[in-house]
Amino acid sequence: MREHVFPKDFEIGVATASYQVEGAVNEDSRKPSIWDIFSHSDGNTYNGDTGDIACDQYHRYIEDIDLMEELGLKAYRFSIAWPRIIPNGVGEVNQNGIEYYQNLCKYLHSKGIKAVATLYHWDLPNCLQDVGGWTNRSVVDAFCKYAEICFDKLGEYVDQWITFNEPLCVSYIGYYEGEHAPGYRDLNKSLKAIHHLNLAHGRTVKIYRGKKLPAPIGITWNLFIPRPAKDDDSCRKAVEYAIDSRTRVFTSPILKGEYPKSIEDLELVFPIEPGDLEEIHQKIDFVGINYYSQSYVSYDETSPFNFKTEPAWESCSEMGWPTTPKGLLDMLRWISDESDNLPIYITENGYADNDVLTPDMRVHDVSRIEYLKKHFEIAEKALDEGIPLKGYFVWSLLDNFEWAKGYSKRFGVVYCNYENLQRIPKDSAYFIRDLIAGNGYW
Ligand code: GCO
Repeated sequence: MREHVFPKDFEIGVATASYQVEGAVNEDSRKPSIWDIFSHSDGNTYNGDTGDIACDQYHRYIEDIDLMEELGLKAYRFSIAWPRIIPNGVGEVNQNGIEYYQNLCKYLHSKGIKAVATLYHWDLPNCLQDVGGWTNRSVVDAFCKYAEICFDKLGEYVDQWITFNEPLCVSYIGYYEGEHAPGYRDLNKSLKAIHHLNLAHGRTVKIYRGKKLPAPIGITWNLFIPRPAKDDDSCRKAVEYAIDSRTRVFTSPILKGEYPKSIEDLELVFPIEPGDLEEIHQKIDFVGINYYSQSYVSYDETSPFNFKTEPAWESCSEMGWPTTPKGLLDMLRWISDESDNLPIYITENGYADNDVLTPDMRVHDVSRIEYLKKHFEIAEKALDEGIPLKGYFVWSLLDNFEWAKGYSKRFGVVYCNYENLQRIPKDSAYFIRDLIAGNGYW
């Protein structure tokens, strides 16, 4: 048995996202996002599930924050719904939306919990999709105006800002693989989306600097850092192509002011205009990384990106994602090098389990606890190596709308009974409470 005690200032928190937890989609002047439209269209989500009610956090945030306090959590990462703040995407600002997030932050602070806000966790106002969404350069300006309103109205309450969550999912899964809103399958559209997301991030950071607000600002990436399936040159080449096309197309413009060289080889063309790369290349204060699993790749010249993923041997979560804790260490080392040691936060890590509520109202989620232990051990190892890891947010506070998988996948450390919206802490919630209390022995 060893002691697992994290530094006192290490922030252990939980994460959620607006469309996945809030519900109340038609209330207080909110208008539809692309996810409302997508989930209400036939066949796009498991069982036709939608975020109409979700966990109803819009009405129950007090209860949820009380629960966070009971668990001793230090920080809450939530996202702001653009369609609540500017329901038409551009133009009129909705005071109800502003007040909701002000109240949420004030209540977090009254409980000593940090407010970590993501500006974009995928719920684009749908009217902006009507003009092409992220393929249309004008959406960059719309985003910057929305971000500026958030800085002006919420700046005194937010302790840490994240511009975008996982631009990889927005662009590739939404515009190329078609499994997420808006559901396109078009490589060229996804390349436009990548560049416009990068540009929107850079301009937003520039605007933020002008406001002289004290909170740090950064971005959250789900970096794709695979292992070579075999110890040979072709697999190593596949790893490089995979990293360039899935990861460096996001990190390099922001951290280095350039796109990776191999995009020419792969014939990936971005709609770059003069001055864009300088605008994108703004200093950020930290990087957020989301980590669930690592893939293995081999070379495949029939793929537009020159790689394919290979079957894994490890046991999998309910999502079918293999448990590969070492991949988290690879990722932390990679991003720490690539960013010249910027502070790092794990902004998501978690496990979908087949949770069963027992008659005595407990959930014994043994596999999730095992998964979390292995990943917290990696975080300790990273700290031992001197990697500037500052915090760790578990995905998620509670079971919620898992995008195309609807409510079929449960990621929470708190169980959500979707019939009556009752919250029931799972054993993993008590594991985290114990870890934060500094009693980490296992
Ligand atoms: C993502 C999103 C989350 C997901 C979580 C589990 O990483 O895809 O940030 O919203 O719900 O990751 O898939």
